[in-house]
Amino acid sequence: QETHKIRESLLEWYDHNQRDLPWRTKETNPLQAEDEDKEKRAYGVWVSEVMLQQTRVQTVIDYYNRWVLKWPTLQHLALASLEEVNEMWAGLGYYRRARFLLEVPGIGDYTAGAIASIAFKEVVPVVDGNVIRVLARLKAISANPKDSITVKNFWKLAAQLVDPCRPGDFNQSLMELGATVCTPSNPSCTQCPVLSHCRALSISNQDKSVLVTDY
Ligand code: ADE
Repeated sequence: QETHKIRESLLEWYDHNQRDLPWRTKETNPLQAEDEDKEKRAYGVWVSEVMLQQTRVQTVIDYYNRWVLKWPTLQHLALASLEEVNEMWAGLGYYRRARFLLEVPGIGDYTAGAIASIAFKEVVPVVDGNVIRVLARLKAISANPKDSITVKNFWKLAAQLVDPCRPGDFNQSLMELGATVCTPSNPSCTQCPVLSHCRALSISNQDKSVLVTDY
């Protein structure tokens, strides 16, 4: 069935092509699946995903490493002052995000999905601009990405597609594919693990399937 093949191809691609990032854990590594690590994983995923919301991966790496060195756990972070947090955040922009990390109202669908799937292996989807673009092309969906109904429909589609055994890796494979291969313009379709399933490619419409550059 097509969904199975898409999952398998994406996960295999991800296993060989994922970037080595400090907050990544291997779901296939049993040593990292221990329960006592869960809280620590959730903290790392949370901090990194908030940093990644408006900032590129390459920039985030250094900030993330400095952050977890200074505040290795949520308990450490809770004792920090806003001044210290802002100082650590300097250069990342969108300073509201730093305050959210102290006050915690900033967990929306995206961050909740990322933490639940990556840290706790819950079978839930994650949808960001990259994922919308990948799915829009895969299924040749043409829609206004600013419309909340559109976004809701992409969450539904992602929920049907997410791999039940490796949800965190699967979600990250979609984000990674969108960031490195299925880019907004000039996507590298020949490098794509799911090109044989891509409806946009099959109708040569990969640039038009959704106006994600507006997203
Ligand atoms: N962009 C935001 N979060 C990401 C993640 N966990 N993996 C790859 N790209 C991302």
